[in-house]
Amino acid sequence: MQAASWSIEDMPAQDGRVAIVTGASSGIGLETARALAGKGAGVTLGVRDREKGNRAADAIRASHPGAQVAVQHLDLADLASVRAFADTFQGEHRRLDLLINNAGVMMCPFATTRDGFEIQFGTNHLGHFALTGHLLPLLRATGDSRVVNVSSLAHWRGNLDFDDINWQRRAYDSSQAYCDSKLANLLFTLQLAQKMEASGDNPMVTAAHPGWTRTDLQRHVWKYRFLGLFMGQDSAMGALPTLRAATDPDALPVDYYGPSGKKEMRGPPAAAGRSERARERSAAETLWRLSEELTGVSY
Ligand SMILES: NC(=O)c1ccc[n+]([C@@H]2O[C@H](COP(=O)([O-])OP(=O)(O)OC[C@H]3O[C@@H](n4cnc5c(N)ncnc54)[C@H](OP(=O)(O)O)[C@@H]3O)[C@@H](O)[C@H]2O)c1
Repeated sequence: MQAASWSIEDMPAQDGRVAIVTGASSGIGLETARALAGKGAGVTLGVRDREKGNRAADAIRASHPGAQVAVQHLDLADLASVRAFADTFQGEHRRLDLLINNAGVMMCPFATTRDGFEIQFGTNHLGHFALTGHLLPLLRATGDSRVVNVSSLAHWRGNLDFDDINWQRRAYDSSQAYCDSKLANLLFTLQLAQKMEASGDNPMVTAAHPGWTRTDLQRHVWKYRFLGLFMGQDSAMGALPTLRAATDPDALPVDYYGPSGKKEMRGPPAAAGRSERARERSAAETLWRLSEELTGVSY
């Protein structure tokens, strides 16, 4: 992989390109969308709360007058909503250069998605798995397209239990469930990239993590929220690994970017480390089969 130092100035112009950023109503997603729009991309904010999405779009237009930003409803915890989002988007667009699978929930109390999946695995992984599958025809039809999956340092503690993915047989551990969902993001990256390579096809698939970034994500864990005030970086910095994974011309399939500072918690983006479990091809294949079965989306 390439140079350790990378900033927004290194990001190539994005004029004429079309991007979707999920969870762009706040935090890292908002800053990712802002930077892409600032470089000329047409960006659709995939958001579950339309009003919050409209405020985010206004904020982007205020930073970059003339920015091309649209807001579209997307609830990743509802497969019907994911399908409707993709159908509408494909009805209105002839290309999709960048799909940024960024949205996420962290360490929330036990809940299920509309389709009955554990909320963190269901939102962070299955929703994005289904979304990517629905949008694949458009990504394939667009030259030089990319999918970026936003994972986390938390993936290092991930250890998916494929026999009890919805926590029906174990006492719920919301921290473990988050780590598992973030491991799933990297295994999904591995398997999707492998499939694209096998077919010699677009899109290229990369991943990123934002280290420790001060956002609303930590709302369920006050300890992290408090510590983040001192240890976290701001959302614009937290968005840089995603932006590099999305736009660096030297990036390769499966490349994974994170902050280059101590323990990958802060700093400019560079190549990030990943756990042994995140490299396991058999786990990636098992996750893929299970995801197809649960979502009913095969690709
Ligand atoms: N912050 C960190 O230190 C950190 C560290 C590692 C990884 N990450 C990852 O970074 C990504 C972005 O998180 P963030 O830190 O920017 O947190 P955030 O500010 O809470 O942003 C998360 C976004 O996801 C959206 N979202 C949640 N559930 C959704 C659903 N069902 N459908 C559609 N959108 C949904 C949220 O929408 P609402 O605005 O409606 O809540 C919000 O826009 C996540 O994948 C997270 O796991 C963050």
